[in-house]
Amino acid sequence: MEFFEVVTTTRAIRRYLPDPIPDADLAQMFFAATRAPSGSNRQPLRFVVLRDGPKALAARKVLGDSFRTMWSDKRAGDAYDRGSGEDPSSRKARTARTMQHFVDHIDEAPVIVFACVQHWHGGHFTEGASVYPACQNLLLSARALGYGAVMTVWHQVVEKELADIVGLPDGVSIAATIPLGRPEGRHGPVRRLPLDQLVYEDGWSESAPWAIDPEGARFSGGPPRGR
Ligand SMILES: Cc1cc2nc3c(=O)[nH]c(=O)nc-3n(C[C@H](O)[C@H](O)[C@H](O)COP(=O)(O)O)c2cc1C
Repeated sequence: MEFFEVVTTTRAIRRYLPDPIPDADLAQMFFAATRAPSGSNRQPLRFVVLRDGPKALAARKVLGDSFRTMWSDKRAGDAYDRGSGEDPSSRKARTARTMQHFVDHIDEAPVIVFACVQHWHGGHFTEGASVYPACQNLLLSARALGYGAVMTVWHQVVEKELADIVGLPDGVSIAATIPLGRPEGRHGPVRRLPLDQLVYEDGWSESAPWAIDPEGARFSGGPPRGR
């Protein structure tokens, strides 16, 4: 796929077909992922890939419980079932159904990846900054090969249990959990705020006259300002 098509269609994919991912595709995705930069080229990132080994099966079960708990808390906290969410055809209700399906089936995703960080800087933000570029490279290369994925942090409440299952040493944490698989459905375009709300020139909030979205760009957060 052409680079800009990949970037503008790499959406969060939360439904997967059961097809396994061939080793050669995994190798290509992780090669691309690990080409990402890190501070001083320290490369504090390690990926733990879960498929169907005994540790993977144990971790999948724990993740399922954790994802369901985290979504259930978010569902209540963000009032997904109140207001417009009471209408089953509303965007809120559709999102809630997608999320519920996601957490109910997360343990069945063909591959689940733990993006782990070896701490060296006492939890300083640059540690995460040396891990997430590789996660994004993984999402992009998955998309380029026709797979879908989503970055998540819903392992947090069971991180200790997961660390014991997969044998993480002291000083290593899970920065993200990324399920991967062939998408059920299509990717569709990424929607974000209009460029002029995200990019300034010279000073905060000062518009950059050249910051114009290309024809056909799709927007999130309501209709774009001044269009
Ligand atoms: C740091 C980070 C944490 C995220 N955590 C979760 C998560 O725990 N669960 C989840 O379902 N999605 C999670 N997401 C996915 C976002 O919800 C998603 O990327 C965002 O809504 C944009 O979706 P889109 O790319 O399909 O437009 C996370 C994304 C990022 C970058």
